[in-house]
Amino acid sequence: MTLDRPRSLRDAASEATAGVPVAAGLDGIVVAETRLSHVDGAAGELTIRGEPLDRLAGRVGFETVVRMLLEEAFEDLPDEAGLARALAAARGEVFALLDPPGAVTSALPPVETLRALMARLDDGEGLDAALRLIAAPAVLTPALLRLRSGARPLPPDPRLGLAADCLRMLSGTPPSDAQSAALDRYLVTVSDHGLNASTFAARVVASTRAGLTSAVLAALGALKGPLHGGAPGPVLDMLDAVGTPEAAEARLAARLEAGERLMGFGHRIYRVRDPRADALKAGVAALAGEGLVDSDRLRLAEAVERAALTLLGRHRPERRLETNVEFYTALLLEALGFPRDSFTCVFAMGRCAGWIAHAREQQATGRLLRPQSRYVGPLPRDAA
Ligand code: ACO
Repeated sequence: MTLDRPRSLRDAASEATAGVPVAAGLDGIVVAETRLSHVDGAAGELTIRGEPLDRLAGRVGFETVVRMLLEEAFEDLPDEAGLARALAAARGEVFALLDPPGAVTSALPPVETLRALMARLDDGEGLDAALRLIAAPAVLTPALLRLRSGARPLPPDPRLGLAADCLRMLSGTPPSDAQSAALDRYLVTVSDHGLNASTFAARVVASTRAGLTSAVLAALGALKGPLHGGAPGPVLDMLDAVGTPEAAEARLAARLEAGERLMGFGHRIYRVRDPRADALKAGVAALAGEGLVDSDRLRLAEAVERAALTLLGRHRPERRLETNVEFYTALLLEALGFPRDSFTCVFAMGRCAGWIAHAREQQATGRLLRPQSRYVGPLPRDAA
């Protein structure tokens, strides 16, 4: 009589995933159907709720896009004017989180303070909870930047749109129309973008039936990484390190030589120029036309972009690495007076509505997201 060899952990692990290739970056894996946005990487097109980006950016206000994204997420969604009023009221509710202002820690980077403050919002699933989350970065980012510089946070003004109000709470003076339009353009441009890393994080959390605050906080954690929404601060660091337009090619070549990435270039999906880069470049040009962008900065950025594209073409000729959204984000947000370490907070201001729409869609149409890994670790000694 022969005894069957006991099935080892290694056997069991490899049987479970036999023949399944490991999709390390999940490239090409489709885990959801969405009615929210589509990224066409080959054509360089972004469509949000059926509208191409160039029909939205610079043409409609942020509140319009918030409504488009939330349209199918909440049955009790008001019309556009009602939604703008509800968002303004939500800004007032969020401001109360800052009471007392001394309780707000300012030693952490802004995005971490923002995350800590947003964690105080209730983890609901309704429209009220959603609007407070969407309003939160617009109120808390300027407030914590003012606190950091020793100034008092300013309460929101419900008569203004979200973009104009945010800029007023940041600087203490009403922004010009050009400045409000530039921030509106930015928020619309980044409002949603298919199943990017932070949106996927939001959908994973939502798939467990946790609330919207949990989904948004997970997304914010993913967003802050420098390979995702944490890139524009490092774009400015790179411009500073380059210093002058004449030095661009040599300094960028040295970075590539050292194995570093050029920030603001390359994308997982786009094989051509990121359409958001053009939308934001137009925003920077409009600000420059009003004398609101430092002209030396702009000349330096243009030289860096030209040199980077040439060098990246040589560095990876088989893989087109083009300008992404973060390059002109950096110039636009700097011109609007946001410090570079707060750029991820401003990105979250625009993307939060997208995260929430995806979280609701996941809950309405999806299943628990639970992929597999293949075990290749140590075996228990008696099972080897
Ligand atoms: N500079 C230099 N080399 C690059 C760059 C870059 N900006 N982007 C990609 N590469 C190279 C990589 O080094 C890699 O080469 P290797 O195979 O020899 O290691 C190759 O191209 C492929 O890179 P991956 O990281 O596999 O490509 P992926 O599609 O995952 O990268 C990413 C996308 C992370 C955006 C990348 O292009 C990058 O790091 N860019 C710089 C950071 C940045 O701008 N991030 C913002 C992205 S936009 C957004 O998320 C909102």
